[in-house]
Amino acid sequence: MCGIVGYAGSAPAGPILLEGLQKLEYRGYDSAGIAVVSEDGVLQLKKTKGRLAALSELTDGGKCFSGCLGIGHTRWATHGEPNDVNSHPHLSEDGRVAVVHNGIIENYVEIKEFLQGEGVHFRSDTDTEVVAQLIEYYFRRSGDLLDAVFKVLHRIEGAYALGIICADDPDKFIAARKDAPLLLGYGEDCCFCASDATAILRHTRCVSYMDDGEVAVISRGGATVYDSMLRPVNKERHIIDWDVSSAEKGGYEHFMLKEIMEQPEAVRKTISPRIRDGRICFDGLSLTVDYIRSVQRICIVACGSSYHVGVVGKYNLEHLLHIPVEPCLASEFRYSDPVVGPNTLVIIISQSGETLDTMKALGKAKSLGAHTLAIVNVVGSSIARDADDVLYTWAGPEIAVATTKAYSTQLVLLDMLGVWLADMRGSISREEYGELMHALDRLPEQMQTVLDNTEDIKFLASRCFNHESVFFIGRNLDYALGMEGSLKLKEISYIHSEAYAGGELKHGTISLIVDGTLVIALGTYDPLFDKTMSNVVEVLSRGADVLALTTECNAEEMKKTVDKVLSVPDAHRILQPSLAVLPLQLFAYYVALQRGCDIDKPRNLAKSVTVE
Ligand code: F6R
Repeated sequence: MCGIVGYAGSAPAGPILLEGLQKLEYRGYDSAGIAVVSEDGVLQLKKTKGRLAALSELTDGGKCFSGCLGIGHTRWATHGEPNDVNSHPHLSEDGRVAVVHNGIIENYVEIKEFLQGEGVHFRSDTDTEVVAQLIEYYFRRSGDLLDAVFKVLHRIEGAYALGIICADDPDKFIAARKDAPLLLGYGEDCCFCASDATAILRHTRCVSYMDDGEVAVISRGGATVYDSMLRPVNKERHIIDWDVSSAEKGGYEHFMLKEIMEQPEAVRKTISPRIRDGRICFDGLSLTVDYIRSVQRICIVACGSSYHVGVVGKYNLEHLLHIPVEPCLASEFRYSDPVVGPNTLVIIISQSGETLDTMKALGKAKSLGAHTLAIVNVVGSSIARDADDVLYTWAGPEIAVATTKAYSTQLVLLDMLGVWLADMRGSISREEYGELMHALDRLPEQMQTVLDNTEDIKFLASRCFNHESVFFIGRNLDYALGMEGSLKLKEISYIHSEAYAGGELKHGTISLIVDGTLVIALGTYDPLFDKTMSNVVEVLSRGADVLALTTECNAEEMKKTVDKVLSVPDAHRILQPSLAVLPLQLFAYYVALQRGCDIDKPRNLAKSVTVE
């Protein structure tokens, strides 16, 4: 989703802003722009539809600007089609104020009508332009930029991360945040704001995270931050501990493939520090044993792939804890009347920690009195800071839009959490606990084995890439797994694909199975292997082209019925999806590669969904 970077320093701002925007490309965008103000108050703006290469050409790599202070933006269109005019930054009518924005101004129509009534002319179809115009409106009256910005912030409704420059105040820029990510970066003789740390990591690792309602006045010498009542706030500084190379491709053709291959190591980093003397330990959680024993129900709230982790979690946590576990889509949860109270543990899952629906669902769960525990990858993100407890996945930066290593680390962390809770509640036998610890220990190595043998997957992808519709079927954990396999395939290859519980086929979907329909049958959940085999036979007899994924112990049995069979090593049932998801990720990757798709930046998708 939209990316923002702002810079105040002693070097020319254009190339630094352009480079920062390049690092934010992975968030997803359709147009981009930069505005720079020079010391003598000349504001220059360049923006264009399309990729950053076009902006780079238009600005001679950012060198066409003169000035050491500016803002840049990658836009993911919400209001108004992606075109040059609707791209950010947006100017006020007199061209003295420029604004970049991530989020949605919900009452922009009302403000636009007010300003039009005052004789202001608008250029774009965006919600953002009202911010630039309204700042100019108030600035003309007070001559004080900060005062004008505060008045605007009290008038607009919705979500925003804003970067604002003004030709009449060329030594500083203003950043503001509400329900959209924004951090400040402190470099040597320079200061930044950015949607995420990747944009500024080349210049500094020292950051602070802005909170909702805060406004920062940023100059080359540093940043002064105010709360919504204009009281100065002391911001804690954090040091980012991952390096630039983890956000680079490192010889792989795509970030997605690199991140798929990083999974054994990422999962090891998630598991190892949390095992001591053969037992799972979660340090620093506020959950008490008494509370854990009083929990009557668990809700797992998330979006997209993170939600799919929650669906796996339903099966695994119910198996371990014997209490109801409900996976909830955050966008539904926040607008429903969930039966949640103090005895409900709400587990929030989010890679970015900034997904707006998930953030709002977290707020709702807290307001209903639930204890909230977040599983998050991005350290210091909004969800990580707002939840009562947080467990980090430590997967490192994930750049490809389609998640892989974040999914895998979320999954294993949720499994570990389930085992830990079960131990506290006394609902897991000593024997199963021991088996699981052994299985966790072996997991990274088993994952590596799957990833070291990609030839069959590549071959099968080359046989299947021209299908236009695919059905994933499976039962129990395989159904949950199918949801993720199906999402991976559709988001990067644009093939229509659906995941069905095997037992549901006969209730409607089987009417779509005709000669040649591709069905990916998941038979890795051993207790229901035979049931899945029956579904395989049903679709085969209607002419389906079946590709099956199973475990090594069932592979021979599967091969008696199906020609195209992939298998993964056998593992404890709870951890089997962590192995089985790998061939599905690779299958999606190789299919998309064969189809010539833009794998790391699939159309219409954004990495961090910061609007609803
Ligand atoms: C799919 C994918 C998305 C995210 C979803 C939630 O590959 O990555 O479905 O899982 O947008 O994002 P987070 O986990 O950042 O809240």
